Amino acid sequence: MLSEKSRPVIEATLPVIAERIGEITKKFYERLFTNHPELMDGMFSRANQKNGNQQKALAGSIAAFASHLLAHPGTLPEAVLSRIAHKHTSLGVPEAGYPIVYENLFAAIAEDLGDAVTAEVAEAWTEVYWLMADALIKIEKGLYARQANNEMFTPWRVTAKEAAGAGSITFRLAPADATPVTRATPGQYVSVRVRLADGLRQVRQYSLSDAVDSLTERVFTTKLDEGGEVSPFLHGSVNVGDVVELSNPYGDIVLDDSDAPIVLATAGIGCTPSASILQSLARQASDRRVLVLHAEQRAENWALGNQMRSAVEQLPNAELLLWLEEAAAGADAESGFMDLGGVDLPAGAKLYLCGPLPFMRSIRSQAIDAGIPATDIHYEVFGPDVWLAA
Ligand code: HEM
Repeated sequence: MLSEKSRPVIEATLPVIAERIGEITKKFYERLFTNHPELMDGMFSRANQKNGNQQKALAGSIAAFASHLLAHPGTLPEAVLSRIAHKHTSLGVPEAGYPIVYENLFAAIAEDLGDAVTAEVAEAWTEVYWLMADALIKIEKGLYARQANNEMFTPWRVTAKEAAGAGSITFRLAPADATPVTRATPGQYVSVRVRLADGLRQVRQYSLSDAVDSLTERVFTTKLDEGGEVSPFLHGSVNVGDVVELSNPYGDIVLDDSDAPIVLATAGIGCTPSASILQSLARQASDRRVLVLHAEQRAENWALGNQMRSAVEQLPNAELLLWLEEAAAGADAESGFMDLGGVDLPAGAKLYLCGPLPFMRSIRSQAIDAGIPATDIHYEVFGPDVWLAA
C-alpha cells in the first residue's frame, strides 16, 4: 500500500508523469540497451522497440498502476499484474533484472524532467516502482515454481509444418531433450526463441493451437507478418527436423473449470487460443453451452477452420457463427464485420476475446451493451498490451 507520505506527491505529479511517460520510456529503453546490450539478445523484441509498442505498454502499465493505488488504496490491479507476470515468465525475466530496470528508468525520469524531480518526487515514485516490482516478482516466483522444470527455454524439434489457411502455418514439435514437460492449460501460449540470420536471438509468444494436454507435443499456429522478424523466419527458414527453443506454457486467459456458458469471439489468427479451448472441451465431452463467433476477411484465410468446426460438431451444446468481410455467394456466413446485434448471447456467459484491438474494443463494448458484466469479459492481446495505455 502506498505510504501516506508519498500519496499526495503521486497525486500531484501523476499528470505530468503520465504526460511525459512516453518520452521517459523512450529514453529509458535507449539507456537500458546502451548499458545492457545483452537484453536485446533473446529477451526484448527488436520489432516492438522499433514500432514503439513496448514503450506504450510499459508506460501505460506504470501510469495505470499509480492511478490504481490512488483510486483503490490497499488493493492491487490484479489483472494488469497477472498479464505482465505471465509475459515476463514466458520470457524468463529474472528477479535480478528489476534493479537494472529501476536504475535506468529513474535516470531517464531525471533526464526528462530535470529539476522537477526533487528528492521527494524521486522517493515517492521509487516507492510506486518497488510496489509494482515486488508484486510482479511475487507472482513470477509462483509461476516459475509451478513448472515441471527449472528451465526458461528447452529445445524442441519440429516434427511437422502444415499449411493452415492462407498465410498461416501450424508447427508440431517434440521435446529434443529429457527435460520434464509442464502440462499446459487450454488458452495458454509458449514463447518461441530463434536465432535470426544476423545472429540475434528473438522471442515471440504463440498460443498453443492443438494438443494442449500433451506432455510429448507442442503445437502452435502462426500467421506470416511480412514486416515482422520472427514469423518470416519460422515460415521461411525453420523446417521439419530443425530445433527451436520453447518456454514452459504461460498465459492467464484460460478455460475455467466452471459450467458457465462460454462465448469465444475471435477474428483472424486470434482464433488460435479458442481452437485449443474448443478442442479441450470436445475431449472432455463437455455439455457446457458454447457459442463460437469468428470473423475473417475471406473464408480461405481461416487458419483453424476445420479443427474448430469439427470440435463444435462434437460438442452437444455448441454453435458456430461466422462473419466474412468478403463472403462468397452461398457462403454459410454473415457478410461484413462481426455484430452482436442479432446474436442470442447465453445468460451468465463468460466472454473470451482474441483478435486485433479495434475488433476487441468493438465486441467488448457491444457485449457490455448486451448486459455482459465487464468482469466476465476476458481478452488476449497478441503483442504488447497497448490497450492498457489507452
Ligand atoms: C513486457 C511492465 C520489469 C522485460 C512488459 C509489458 C509490460 C511490462 C506492461 C508488456 C506486457 C504485454 O505484453 O502486454 C514492466 C514493469 C516492470 C517490468 C512495470 C517493473 C516494475 C521488467 C524487467 C525485465 C522486463 C526487470 C527484464 C530485465 C520485459 C520484456 C517484455 C516485457 C522482455 C516483452 C517485451 C517485448 O516483447 O517487446 N513489461 N516490466 N520487464 N518486459 Fe517488463
